[in-house]
Amino acid sequence: MIQSPSVIEVPLRFLAEKVGLAVGTAFETRHLNDPEFRETVAKEFSQITPENEMKFSYVQPERGKFQFDKADEIVKFALDNEMVVKGHALVWHIQNPNWLVENEWSKQELTEILENHIKTVVSHYKGKVKYWDVVNEAFDDNGGFRETLWYNSLGEEYIEMAFRFAHEADPDAILFYNDYSTEGMNAKANAVYRHVKKLVEKGVPIHGVGTQLHLNSDGPISDVSIARNIERLSDLGMVMHFTEIDVRLRDTDGRSALLDQAKRYELLMKLAVFYPQVDVYTTWGVTDKYSWVPSWFQGYGRPLMFDENYQPKPAYNAVHQVLEDAVDGSFNYKPATDLSQVQRHVQVFNAKELSTTKFDAKEVVYYPFAFNQLGGRNQTLPESADVNGKWAVGYHKNQLIGQVLRHDNKTITNHKLAHENDNVEVFIRIGDKFWQLRSIVGHDFSTIDFPGKVHGEWNEDGSIFEFVFELDDYEDLVGETIGFNIGMSDNDGQTNTGTRHAQLYPLAGSNIGWQGEEFGELFMTGQNAVVTAIPISLPPTFIAKSLTSKPENASSAVWQEGFHYSLAFNQLNQKDMSTSPQSIGGTWSLGHYDNWLYGVVNRNDDVTVTSMDESYLNDNIEIFMQLGNELVQLRTTVGRDFEKNRYPRQIKANWNKEGTQMFFAIELDKPVEVGKSIFWNIAMSDNDNRKERSSQLYPVPGSNISYLGEELTKLTFE
Ligand code: XIL
Repeated sequence: MIQSPSVIEVPLRFLAEKVGLAVGTAFETRHLNDPEFRETVAKEFSQITPENEMKFSYVQPERGKFQFDKADEIVKFALDNEMVVKGHALVWHIQNPNWLVENEWSKQELTEILENHIKTVVSHYKGKVKYWDVVNEAFDDNGGFRETLWYNSLGEEYIEMAFRFAHEADPDAILFYNDYSTEGMNAKANAVYRHVKKLVEKGVPIHGVGTQLHLNSDGPISDVSIARNIERLSDLGMVMHFTEIDVRLRDTDGRSALLDQAKRYELLMKLAVFYPQVDVYTTWGVTDKYSWVPSWFQGYGRPLMFDENYQPKPAYNAVHQVLEDAVDGSFNYKPATDLSQVQRHVQVFNAKELSTTKFDAKEVVYYPFAFNQLGGRNQTLPESADVNGKWAVGYHKNQLIGQVLRHDNKTITNHKLAHENDNVEVFIRIGDKFWQLRSIVGHDFSTIDFPGKVHGEWNEDGSIFEFVFELDDYEDLVGETIGFNIGMSDNDGQTNTGTRHAQLYPLAGSNIGWQGEEFGELFMTGQNAVVTAIPISLPPTFIAKSLTSKPENASSAVWQEGFHYSLAFNQLNQKDMSTSPQSIGGTWSLGHYDNWLYGVVNRNDDVTVTSMDESYLNDNIEIFMQLGNELVQLRTTVGRDFEKNRYPRQIKANWNKEGTQMFFAIELDKPVEVGKSIFWNIAMSDNDNRKERSSQLYPVPGSNISYLGEELTKLTFE
């Protein structure tokens, strides 16, 4: 067969060049000894960042003695191969030489060291290094200044000094601020934005912002959030670089993780192509063989576009395809940045594609039954010994295939009223039609008029229920979104006469699913499936009640007036968001009085950890509020007040001694308007092993990106 010339792969760098983009990589000189490495770099990439050899400890290992041989070698290789160089990094808090770290310096001495270092290094590469990372990682995750040797002595001024020194040494160099976890609209990115704005207003020579993008293949990523951040920085006149892209996989991950990885590389390339302000797309390494990841992140690896044998991975192909589309005019991606569109209130559940018509627990996502809608204002779950459960739905072609796992200490199935028996109800809404299907424990669904075959089957002890709905109007459900809800009823009363005391749903609400209202949405693709402009049915919002008196603490009687909800969705586990009630659980309630928002959180946890250096790893409660354009994130570690943050008014968190109850107060700019809503969320983190968190519980499902201002839920003031 004759191969058409288009089958021959054009290297990334040439495609990218046609759309005004450089595709970069990072490495050390020793890697150039590997001929395959040299060849791959020269063929595919058009930009180089020295991975380590321009850092302070390498170029000035002894005070005043500069050593450029290694970095020179990289720069020569780059220029020989017509690549641009980004110098990295002039000022940072790590990889500094001992002489610098171990001495006490006066302000003046340290300023001289900073000036001499920057000017010597930048002058040495004048005309050869086009871009510089002048300051690297100056902010902490909460948006405060990172307390580095530079900051502790010179204050925030060191940042602008560094830019001025670099500019004096090479007025043509394009100067960057660079940081990680700053790609989206989170607290740290807000701090970067504010500081860059301040520098620009002061006339400091800063020209661009780099965001590193060391990502995790199953971690959150939101193009909307990244897009909004690019737009606001470019409004300040900044160029953007994606500077250190890699997407690590767990060592135990299989092929599907390679596809998740590819999606992230692809999304970033789409953004880089879409925004002319993004002109460099750099991956932190070339081949999985030499990545920094395995030695820095235990249990992780394979983060790059080429595998250990230099074979292109799905990530490479995905990036290549985006560039091909961009070159031949078929690129048609556009990030949605309109807040009103993306922040419409949805509650999303994922139905994953099943490989056969058989339900397979490994292929789906489990969600908890989280709220008791029969409880009136108290929607929290009954004792776990009484009743609890979780459910999951997948799809295959036109079949919805699901499972309910149910624990109940007493099963009632012979009540004369069908709905008073222990049962599972599935609510489905498509367009303006909806169906309610009920199956009493031990029985198939009662027959109803449904456009397709329906079947439900219980195991002997009523602990497992599996169901199938064939939807005749569809050939394949992939890409569809349907309205969905599922209820589990429990009657523990006297046989025949008692009434239900619980009807558990994955959503809070007023138990009107049977009227086709207050549904969630079932996405037949994934978390980031397209959100339809018009909601299928509005999910209920959470309610903060107007309190008749000001609560003084968590035990104020006035809390009886409020709605009480559960914290039930573990967004850290994207396969199973249910939790083990023995190990962690919580409830919360909000109210308002005057210009204050009050809340109480109850927490039960078997092991409390509060000794971690990074506070987000401690057992804590976080509150997210979208106020105007600003996302406010407040964190209180168990036993402590809210952490330092940028909230402009008074806030207070008070814990009881046992760490089981927290009372908080947040001052608002004006009295609450009844009937108004805000986007917000609340989360409870749990670390049990002093290493990593085992759960972060929210009242809604999601992919743990509330800190980006995404997937927030709605809070209405009543
Ligand atoms: C890393 C290098 O890849 C490693 O080889 C080295 O041991 C430590 O530094 N953010 C940065 C980069 O700005 O300089 C870091 O590079 C990765 C995180």
